[in-house]
Amino acid sequence: MPSASNRAHRGLPFANPMSEAAVDRMLDGLRLRPGALVLDSGCGSGEMLLRALERDPTWRGLGVDLDEDAIAQARARAGERLPGRDVRFEVRDAGDVSGRHDAVLNVGSSHVHGGYPAALGTLRTLVADGGAVVYGEGYWREEPSPGFLAALGGATEDELDTFGGLRSAAVAAGFEIEAVAEASDADWTRYEETLAANAEREGDSDALTYARRIRERRAIPGGTDTLGFALLLLRAG
Ligand SMILES: C[S@@+](CC[C@H](N)C(=O)[O-])C[C@H]1O[C@@H](n2cnc3c(N)ncnc32)[C@H](O)[C@@H]1O
Repeated sequence: MPSASNRAHRGLPFANPMSEAAVDRMLDGLRLRPGALVLDSGCGSGEMLLRALERDPTWRGLGVDLDEDAIAQARARAGERLPGRDVRFEVRDAGDVSGRHDAVLNVGSSHVHGGYPAALGTLRTLVADGGAVVYGEGYWREEPSPGFLAALGGATEDELDTFGGLRSAAVAAGFEIEAVAEASDADWTRYEETLAANAEREGDSDALTYARRIRERRAIPGGTDTLGFALLLLRAG
């Protein structure tokens, strides 16, 4: 059976809180050459890579994720929406991908490259000079309380940065920041309430535990305004 997280995400385009409009705005800024190769490392069910490739009929894609169910969904979507196109989805550790790509999408998936901030350095090595990265990362809107970190499953404060720190780290890794988009409170509410409701409808103990963790975290002080998430459109200098 697919994981509780995978089932809770059914019907949602992305495994992150960003709105479809914000994602589309970032992808509009990719500006790649004809025939460009776009890598999505930790692609989940592939929606972001497919949207990128829908922007130019000559662009090619490689999506990599360890979740077999997510990759099966990505392949099915690609067959429906981009028949005959050069797009591959592979069950594979994204940490093993090498070579230079015209663009790299890495959203909610920095852990596949060693986590923030190391992932930014790896992403710079995976993208050609002048190429683009769409990087999606969490950050602290407020200092996390011990209770909030525990509710995240034992996270530590040093796993993430402030929004200013996140931007500085991207520049230090060799990127220019061309655009940013932050998830709004409404984006977070829509995303997390949908996840919890979907998981509760599933009804098995794994799914109910998944839903309860979301609802309990949202209910504690700071539960809805400590964690942020942003997309950064980065150009490799
Ligand atoms: C939060 S999801 C983000 C998915 C997608 N980028 C999105 O924003 O919709 C993180 C993804 O990373 C994948 N993942 C975790 N470790 C991985 C690894 N070493 N290599 C490839 N994918 C990995 C998970 O299976 C999951 O699909």
